[in-house]
Amino acid sequence: MSSEAENAWCMVLESTSEAETQALGHRIGAVFRGGEVVGLVGPLGAGKTQLAKGLATGLGVADSGQVNSPTFVLVNEYTGRLNIHHLDVYRLSGVAELEALGFDEMCSDGAVVIVEWADRVRPALGGDALWVELSPIGATRRRMALRTRCASIQERLIAAGLDPKE
Ligand SMILES: Nc1ncnc2c1ncn2[C@@H]1O[C@H](COP(=O)(O)OP(=O)(O)O)[C@@H](O)[C@H]1O
Ligand SMILES: [Mg+2]
Repeated sequence: MSSEAENAWCMVLESTSEAETQALGHRIGAVFRGGEVVGLVGPLGAGKTQLAKGLATGLGVADSGQVNSPTFVLVNEYTGRLNIHHLDVYRLSGVAELEALGFDEMCSDGAVVIVEWADRVRPALGGDALWVELSPIGATRRRMALRTRCASIQERLIAAGLDPKE
């Protein structure tokens, strides 16, 4: 990880199944209050979309079946207790194209913003983003490194019992 999240606070979680990744996402999404920007990083098949499904149900989206990679539409919108903008920037040329989609407005309208392949537009996410780097470490094992400079998010994740050291 580099730039924005470099040297930031880090919490490492591990998942051994798709369901566990969704469950962890649910617990993370449950601590959001609106305005959070989440950058998901990791190779194809790492579990970014599975984690996004969990984040959405943690935000009160009843049907996680509607949460899919917005690879072609670029952005999906869901509504739970908060609105969610779910982006996949794999096909974007860079930050300028993201700005043209109205990204700044998405980040300032009180919704939660989830960005797959966020490392491709890293500077756009801002200094308070929550970065989640997913690394496959086996057929069904995933390491998830959560990094953020935002003290409030750090505190809420720990308060939710997500600290693996506890
Ligand atoms: N522990 C795990 N967490 C998440 N997905 C897993 C896990 N183990 C296996 N998988 C599989 O890996 C794939 C992840 O796909 P997806 O979430 O779409 O990845 P990405 O969005 O990063 O490309 C799914 O087919 C899922 O069933
Ligand atoms: Mg995906």
